[in-house]
Amino acid sequence: MKKRTMTDRDIYILGIETSCDDTCASVIANGTNILSNVVSSQNEIHKKYGGVVPEVASRRHIEMIDIVIMEALSIAGKHIEEIDAVSVTNRPGLIGSLLVGVGAAKSICYSKSLPLIAVNHLEAHLYSNMIENPLIEGGLLGLIVSGGHSSLYLVDREWNITEVGHTVDDAAGEAFDKIARYLGLGYPGGPVIDRLAESGSEDLIEFPRPMMESGDFNFSFSGLKTSLIYRTKKHRELMDKGSIPDLVAGFQKAVVDVLTHKTIAAARKYGMERVFVSGGVAANSRLREEFLRLGSENNIRIYIPPAGLCMDNAAMVGCLGYHRLKRGLTDDFEIDVYSRSDL
Ligand code: KG4
Ligand code: ZN
Repeated sequence: MKKRTMTDRDIYILGIETSCDDTCASVIANGTNILSNVVSSQNEIHKKYGGVVPEVASRRHIEMIDIVIMEALSIAGKHIEEIDAVSVTNRPGLIGSLLVGVGAAKSICYSKSLPLIAVNHLEAHLYSNMIENPLIEGGLLGLIVSGGHSSLYLVDREWNITEVGHTVDDAAGEAFDKIARYLGLGYPGGPVIDRLAESGSEDLIEFPRPMMESGDFNFSFSGLKTSLIYRTKKHRELMDKGSIPDLVAGFQKAVVDVLTHKTIAAARKYGMERVFVSGGVAANSRLREEFLRLGSENNIRIYIPPAGLCMDNAAMVGCLGYHRLKRGLTDDFEIDVYSRSDL
């Protein structure tokens, strides 16, 4: 009987993600088949502070990491002995949070003699689009819109990544979160605003489109936030319960217009016919709708993962880990964690 090799059987990666406030673990086969994708959210814990408290986040990761990993293996129906490698986010993120995931990954790899793969959280967000499109070739534009980033990247045929634009102040998700906090809508702000905006009129309260015509591919969202605050101080009635949906719908439309307009402009400038959209804000229903509309209008194919894969998750970390393993890119136990790291 022919002996099976690594190349003709399924490769199982255990992905671990703890860069911010979600404790996540996933088992993914061949970078495409998600067998489990467990997310233990800390939203309820951080809600009362209106944002993530780093020390609280890392303590909660410590409590949850073993449970979440065991659950991911159990849902996948896999024993740790059947796992081929462990992929973990080691940058960028909150140091205390990253250390928990990396510590767990190192322990598993050391005790089970498994390859360790350390990945960049931002690159993992880009790869969230590869889960459903595993055979797609490089040569595309990537947009990452999350709580910490709003950046555009060129991804060449060899999957080398170059940044072509970034936010000069707040990230889009950060703007959603700050506005929600100001309006007393809770944390995280994006999903609440998305839901409330559905019953509002987005053309009733006009907001600026910051840097939309700046000629480069940078973004700015902090002025938009200031504009909303200024407006509500001048017209108190905008804070009434009945006006909030119109207010946030107008704000959301401004964010969506800037993100979609500049991304399509960058794709056209760099001659890219495919765009990967990713990150928590990519779960926004208006942003998805507008991207798909503008994409078909401009003959640009837009890829956006299902909402559950836009937000922080370990399946995207496992997917990137799989592709790095296939390229022979593994790491040693000297790897560290980094709060900042560009692509
Ligand atoms: O990617 P992610 O889970 O974590 C980071 O890496 O930052 O993104 C979280 C961000 C938060 O700012 C949250 O408000 C935003 O994504 N977000 C949304 C939506 N869902 C999450 N923003 C707009 N609309 C949504 N539906
Ligand atoms: Zn993220």
